[in-house]
Amino acid sequence: MPRTYFVTGAQGCIGSWVVRLILEQGDRAVLFDLDHHDKRLAQVLSPEQLSSVDRIQGDVTDTEVVRQAIDQSGAEAIVHLAGLQVPFCAADPVLGARVNVLGTLNLFEAARMIGLPRMTYASSAAVYDLADGAISVDESIAPAPTTHYGVYKLANEGSARIYWQESGIASVGLRPLTVYGLGRDQGLTSGPTRALKAASLGRTFTIGFSGPTDFLYVSDAARAFVDCATAPLEGAKIFNLHGESVDVAQAVALMDEVLPEEKRGLIQANGPTLPIAPSLNDAALRQALPGLPSTSLRDGFTATLSHFQTLAAAGRLPTDDLEA
Ligand SMILES: NC(=O)c1ccc[n+]([C@@H]2O[C@H](COP(=O)([O-])OP(=O)(O)OC[C@H]3O[C@@H](n4cnc5c(N)ncnc54)[C@H](O)[C@@H]3O)[C@@H](O)[C@H]2O)c1
Repeated sequence: MPRTYFVTGAQGCIGSWVVRLILEQGDRAVLFDLDHHDKRLAQVLSPEQLSSVDRIQGDVTDTEVVRQAIDQSGAEAIVHLAGLQVPFCAADPVLGARVNVLGTLNLFEAARMIGLPRMTYASSAAVYDLADGAISVDESIAPAPTTHYGVYKLANEGSARIYWQESGIASVGLRPLTVYGLGRDQGLTSGPTRALKAASLGRTFTIGFSGPTDFLYVSDAARAFVDCATAPLEGAKIFNLHGESVDVAQAVALMDEVLPEEKRGLIQANGPTLPIAPSLNDAALRQALPGLPSTSLRDGFTATLSHFQTLAAAGRLPTDDLEA
């Protein structure tokens, strides 16, 4: 029997890939998002897949709407990704807290009321500060977020622990850093993906940060969320996600290697380093769920470039994210 997954933030970058993987494994996805435009989904899913999903337009800040939507979906698994990223939380911290903190509480409350035993949600590497940028941090390193966004994600991890203690709801919070790939068009660390898109179209682009960061291919991130949503793990687990930790300058050089010759040299990186530990150790997750994929940066850039080229050739590649 196909399993039903309830996916919040399903119109987002990681959400679109989560939906794709759920459908590819023969399961059913019920999509919950405030946004009803299929901008990213239409890039990541085939037209057949797109027409097969159930969409609910709703706001995670509304407790009753969330509860009813999950109840009516008949979902057995929850992947909670809806949220506002770093710049949006910085611009409006109160709205950021409503969406990121109250929204997450609403998912846990709904799970408790409906009697669902577990859920997976997006935390973030933004719970860490830069600390000693040379070391690869594991989950034993004390969080010290430097943004409102990071503080909200840390609060959610605390709420998850209390829902386990008091209501027995098991959860997995995953901490990615710089997710890249098709559909990554907004947020602090979206620069590398937008740069690759710009160069693929023969346009110049400057990535707004420099220094090292932990690059994670979006499909690998999505696989971890999907698998954690049903893994029989107990407790309120928190896991780092790790891809490849490299300097943005090296990532730009790698993009130039995968780009066609006439489109090289168009990308630059200029700006401050990210205030987040640039290298994450995800041994704990890989021990809990052996077999998760680990796409190299070269392969991830090559696949992403190929997606951009295919969509551009079909006249279906949005470029509004290059204007900002
Ligand atoms: N992309 C990254 O590099 C990264 C890194 C660490 C953590 N995360 C976290 O992973 C999750 C997904 O990230 P993403 O890159 O796909 O983000 P995204 O910005 O592409 O998508 C977020 C989605 O949430 C939806 N949303 C926003 N407010 C909502 C509300 N009130 N109700 C319902 N839906 C709402 C948006 O419409 C959007 O579709 C987020 O929680 C993000 O904080 C992402």
